[in-house]
Amino acid sequence: MRILGIETSCDDTGVAVYDHTRGLLAHRLYSQTPIHAEYGGVVPELASRDHVQKLLPLVRAVMWEAETQPADMDGVAYTAGPGLVGALLVGAAVGRALAYAWGVPALGVHHMEGHLLSPMLEADPPAFPFLALLVSGGHTLLADVRRVGDYRILGESLDDAVGEAFDKTAKLLGLGYPGGPAIARLARNGERGRYHFPRPMTDKPGLDFSFSGLKTAVVNCVDGKELAPQAIADIAHAFQEAAVDTLVIKCKRALHETAHQRLVVAGGVSANQLLRERMADMANAQGAKVYYPRLEFATDNGAMIAYTGYVRLAAGQRDALAFGAYPRWEIDSLPKL
Ligand code: KG4
Ligand code: ZN
Repeated sequence: MRILGIETSCDDTGVAVYDHTRGLLAHRLYSQTPIHAEYGGVVPELASRDHVQKLLPLVRAVMWEAETQPADMDGVAYTAGPGLVGALLVGAAVGRALAYAWGVPALGVHHMEGHLLSPMLEADPPAFPFLALLVSGGHTLLADVRRVGDYRILGESLDDAVGEAFDKTAKLLGLGYPGGPAIARLARNGERGRYHFPRPMTDKPGLDFSFSGLKTAVVNCVDGKELAPQAIADIAHAFQEAAVDTLVIKCKRALHETAHQRLVVAGGVSANQLLRERMADMANAQGAKVYYPRLEFATDNGAMIAYTGYVRLAAGQRDALAFGAYPRWEIDSLPKL
């Protein structure tokens, strides 16, 4: 089975071709970061318009690179939600239309399920069941994963997602958009112990998260002051430590409570090197193993959508001729395979 995957839920146009015997044949990403950077965040209307311009040329390029003709295709998967509605609609309309023209089934994929399954594209994929930590710009959630579609949510952020906290803190420190990579870069020059921020909700039982308090702690610390470059690096360092510590503490607790031996960490924030190292250390000490997507598939990409589409299309799931976009869509409402 050969599937075209299309991702347009936010500010990245991602396209890939996945073949179930040969693996990923080609994948490309066009990042809109320069378009949104001057506004300090994603401007939805600009995102939609740019997807319109970039998507079809990207599909052509990926098909050419994969040495694939429409006649070789068995299905098209596109991100149907959650995300920005206008951006989603571009991928959904193009994906559905291509599938119709090619006479193959189409499927709208859940973006966070795409992240969740992204480590399956690696050489050493995790076996089911496992614990999953999904950390992106819009979500922070811990799930007990029995099999594809069987997701029991153990904990979620009650306010800001952890990626959002990185982005807002970066903005506050004048580091631009997107904030995660900027904070991680600067934190390397930061001095340990100059600042200390809270590890929200780690002193209470439970697996929920809250990151708006961490952001507020940084706001109070900065308090309109003109900061020297070293102080900004020290704050970035302390913020990253607090965010990573919080995620690691909750994952340790969840591993203990569920007795899982495998932990998947995926989504944009899983690109964070400190998080990868600390999570691996914690898991090793617990006799568990952590699975990550490769760095380029930690953030949004078409490959994870092509793979997730393959898994569900192969199981016989497909959409009707109508297509939809779902800005809000709970991951635990998906059909179990
Ligand atoms: O999964 P993703 O690409 O898009 C969403 O589905 O939201 O995640 C984007 C988020 C942003 O908040 C970005 O700042 C964060 O992932 N991010 C990082 C790093 N790279 C991206 N956060 C921390 N450290 C990084 N290296
Ligand atoms: Zn994402």
